[in-house]
Amino acid sequence: MAEEQAHLEAGHHDGGVEEIEGVPPQISATPGMPERKAVKRRQDRVRENLHLLPKNAQEANYRVRPLNGVWATAPYLHNGSVPNLYALLSPVEERPKKFYLGNREYDPVNVGYRTDELTGGFEMDTTIRGNYNTGHEFSDASGKAGVIGRALTPAERKELIEYLKSL
Ligand code: HEM
Repeated sequence: MAEEQAHLEAGHHDGGVEEIEGVPPQISATPGMPERKAVKRRQDRVRENLHLLPKNAQEANYRVRPLNGVWATAPYLHNGSVPNLYALLSPVEERPKKFYLGNREYDPVNVGYRTDELTGGFEMDTTIRGNYNTGHEFSDASGKAGVIGRALTPAERKELIEYLKSL
């Protein structure tokens, strides 16, 4: 209970319709600055559309961003632990455990940037806590944490990538 209260005070909330009445501290206006109209527009948009979502999505704590332009936003997942869309649609054991960030050469096949060793680049090590790449997995290991769908064949992954490129 105390922990829940601490989360609320830090601006984290449970989602749902009531919660959008308040403006989370991280997007409230800086004292002395005018309140941004975008905040109200966002709240109005959420209010208009929320009832259209399935019940569990209405109650969700975390709503994922739309995937528009996702071809241009590698590396993927909130911690950038997956270098390209092909790896994101592959089972975790097939995703690279370590890769280099900072390369500007685009990889149009896997959809992301090249990840080979790069002088001055950053080596992303997904075995370090906080860098794990274990979520959002398509696998037949049902019941395993982080699995959100059945395993996809390589051909299915490529077809999905073509779709994602069109967003
Ligand atoms: C074929 C089906 C799916 C495709 C192609 C897909 C695609 C994607 C992609 C490309 C991202 C990365 C966005 C980014 O990093 O900028 C993403 C993130 C996410 N997706 Fe999916 N997704 C699918 C199914 C699902 C399902 C079934 C769920 C929930 C059960 C889900 C929940 C999420 C969540 C919560 C994130 C954010 C994860 C994070 O940032 O760490 N997705 N999805």
